[in-house]
Amino acid sequence: MSVFAIYPGTFDPITNGHADLIERGARMFGRLIVSVAANPNKQPLFSLEERVDLAREVVAHLPHVEVRGFDTLLVNYAKSVGAHVILRGLRAVSDFEFEFQLASMNRWLDSEIESIFLTPTEQYAFISSSLVREVAKLSGDISPFVHPKVMVALAAKFAARNHIGSNNN
Ligand code: COA
Repeated sequence: MSVFAIYPGTFDPITNGHADLIERGARMFGRLIVSVAANPNKQPLFSLEERVDLAREVVAHLPHVEVRGFDTLLVNYAKSVGAHVILRGLRAVSDFEFEFQLASMNRWLDSEIESIFLTPTEQYAFISSSLVREVAKLSGDISPFVHPKVMVALAAKFAARNHIGSNNN
């Protein structure tokens, strides 16, 4: 039986750490949907549509991988697309507590959906989207951590923000 999984996250923006996990997930599952959560609580820098578009650019070379946005309860979304596995990354011990809570709640909500965890390649173990955003905002080099299209999108986002800021002065 071909196993169908979703890989949910906020992806604000997608990083090489996410891409590493997606590539490994794509080898394990017959079909993988990178599921971009609207997640308004996090007040994302990029809109849901922008995050989906960037993720699509990054995974374009991977067959059996697609990208979709969602704004519902994760387990309901998984069920609505017919997935039985939620893939998540565990970068460090510090991720464990949150992931344990998330997986336990999701199992409570729907016991038919299993959570599976992969660890990233060591070189990506310390990356997070917020760190990448911060380094980009302060004009640091993020080229080792994101796809070139993501670099361009981050530069454009912060240039637009700085422009608005200078117009308001
Ligand atoms: N490489 C690089 N970074 C990674 C990573 C990897 N392999 N895995 C996680 N991260 C980072 C992300 O970049 C993000 O960084 P940031 O917080 O600095 O921006 C951080 O780890 C956690 O992000 P993410 O994996 O996107 O999780 P999240 O907490 O933003 O969102 C959802 C988790 C989307 C799965 C969860 O909010 C959800 O299920 N939402 C839907 C609503 C719902 O069902 N809620 C109830 C859940 S029980």
